[in-house]
Amino acid sequence: MFVLGIESSCDETAASLVVDGHEVLSSAISSQVKKHAEYGGVIPELAAREHLTNIRQVMDLALNDAGKTLEDLDGIAVTNHPGLLPALLVGTSYANGLGASLGIPVVGVNHLIAHIYASFIERQDILKEGDSTITALLVSGGHTQIIIISRDGTCEIVGSTIDDAAGEAFDKAAKILGLPYPGGPIIDNMAKGANHKAVDFPRPLKGKPEHRFNFSFSGLKTSLLYKVKDKDLSPQEMKDTVASYQEAIVDVLTHKTFDAAKTYHSKHIVVCGGVACNSALRERLQTMAAKKNIEVVLTPPKFCTDNAAMIAALGYHQIKASKEQELIEAVPRAPLISSVPFFG
Ligand code: KG4
Ligand code: ZN
Repeated sequence: MFVLGIESSCDETAASLVVDGHEVLSSAISSQVKKHAEYGGVIPELAAREHLTNIRQVMDLALNDAGKTLEDLDGIAVTNHPGLLPALLVGTSYANGLGASLGIPVVGVNHLIAHIYASFIERQDILKEGDSTITALLVSGGHTQIIIISRDGTCEIVGSTIDDAAGEAFDKAAKILGLPYPGGPIIDNMAKGANHKAVDFPRPLKGKPEHRFNFSFSGLKTSLLYKVKDKDLSPQEMKDTVASYQEAIVDVLTHKTFDAAKTYHSKHIVVCGGVACNSALRERLQTMAAKKNIEVVLTPPKFCTDNAAMIAALGYHQIKASKEQELIEAVPRAPLISSVPFFG
């Protein structure tokens, strides 16, 4: 089954063609990062306008790269929640129109579950293997969650951030330090080879039983603000400071994820979302995995940040399961994650 995926929930316009939920034929992405950089964050109306300008071209690119035409499509999957409403409206309207004109099914995909499914695109074996739970660490610009996925498809969010998401912690730190948006990749690079023990940053909610799997990153950002305020840091001091800041985030994420995996008897930990690109986080998780009897599945970086391959891949499972065709609405729905449709 050839599924076209469309993603427009935030600042990336993306389209992708995926066969049977795992064979990625193409993945085209047009990033608006530069357009939003001067504002230090994503402006929803600007994002929507950019999606509208780019969506046709991005879809054509995805079809060309895959060597396919619209007539080859069996279905369309489009992100319909969560995300920026004006931005979501562009993708969902486009998908609805295209689906109606081609007479093929259109399904609305949950962006967060798609991030999780991105871990399985190249690891379909895990979906078929055994009966133990899977622990997912979802770390993106807007979300930080630990989710326990059972083999019957039910999900339990056992931990979340109580304030900023991990990606926001990187982006806001960059803003404080006068670095461009998005901060994650820049801080990741700056921290390489620097001393991550140079500056003492707090480990928020670590060792707090009532918040065992929860996160908090806003205090960390304030701590950074006070540490650099009115100081003229040398380039090396700056690198050591960001490395220490990153270390605090990596330490808390790793510790709590392994604690959850042990508590809920998972044999696999999957790590997904934009922050899962972070090299220090990937290294630390792998080191921990070697010590415990748990496999850490690191989503390939090209499927960590926003992309449409994850939307098309997950959409395949929804199209297979769907009976009636309805127009897809761009509305946030609660609960955002309660079950996944990809086992069995
Ligand atoms: O999943 P994503 O592309 O978009 C959302 O759905 O939010 O995640 C974007 C986030 C941004 O906050 C960005 O700074 C962060 O992912 N990010 C990183 C890295 N690459 C992207 N954070 C840390 N290290 C990275 N290498
Ligand atoms: Zn995302």
